[in-house]
Amino acid sequence: MNEATNRVIANYESGHILTSILTALLAMGKDLNHLVATDLAPVDEFHIRGRESTTELANLAKLERGQRLLDVGCGLGGSVRYLCEEFGIIATGVDLTGEYIDTAVALTDLVGMQNQVSFWQASALELPFEDEVFDVVWTEHVQMNIADKLAFYREMNRVLRPGGKLVFHDIFQGEGGDVHFPVPWAPGPEISHLVTPESVKTIITEAGFEILQWEDKTVYSNEWFLAMLAKIKVSGPPPLGLHLLLGDEAKTKLGNVQRNLAENRIAVVQAVCVKLQ
Ligand SMILES: C[S@@+](CC[C@H](N)C(=O)[O-])C[C@H]1O[C@@H](n2cnc3c(N)ncnc32)[C@H](O)[C@@H]1O
Repeated sequence: MNEATNRVIANYESGHILTSILTALLAMGKDLNHLVATDLAPVDEFHIRGRESTTELANLAKLERGQRLLDVGCGLGGSVRYLCEEFGIIATGVDLTGEYIDTAVALTDLVGMQNQVSFWQASALELPFEDEVFDVVWTEHVQMNIADKLAFYREMNRVLRPGGKLVFHDIFQGEGGDVHFPVPWAPGPEISHLVTPESVKTIITEAGFEILQWEDKTVYSNEWFLAMLAKIKVSGPPPLGLHLLLGDEAKTKLGNVQRNLAENRIAVVQAVCVKLQ
């Protein structure tokens, strides 16, 4: 692994993610022997608007029962567990960060879904799959850490069957200027590779996709974030939440996401693309 890859992994690993999640669940009075996937939702969807955006994206993608779906940069696996339960898809998750994959496997076992979802530790740029084996490739908040965007979208194109869909919920460079750091995906600019929505459209097309739907969710994401931060200000952080993944600077990182949204320094997009035949 090269230096940049190690830095990305170091941004996400803490060495005690699973312990923190289990401790929080116990503090909430949950019985670890009778957990269900939704119990994990406050922490296992590491993207703006959490479960809400995953539901929206799934509806936008018109997922169908039995489809083979790959989540690239799946994190703790919350989205694939939800999509599997709700839409009956056959789900696979891939992530670079070993601790995330180990935690995803452990959480999936805990909620009894180990026969329904599989996880692999691998880079999005070298997916460990044959060509054209998935109906849907799904990715949320991952490409910000990847400098070579064309390689990223080409690799997802490779594993999709012709006519298959790429669906994503992602963060791009806004028109308001440079991002305030730290943010959840990077402590500073070294591992943050934001491009504008217009340039990513060109790259996606060059990678062999046609864009079917493109929804800018920046304004709404900012409203959602403001409401979430206001709630935390009144009641404090809930025992189980994204702060468990964000380390000592959790408050600053979350505050910076909201500031970046409000000042148009980042743009949030949900999109559905199709792999050309
Ligand atoms: C903000 S988290 C999002 C996780 C998940 N998609 C979600 O929405 O809950 C970003 C994830 O991207 C992963 N990631 C970053 N670069 C990657 C790469 N080159 N290949 C695979 N995963 C990567 C990180 O390990 C991390 O799990």
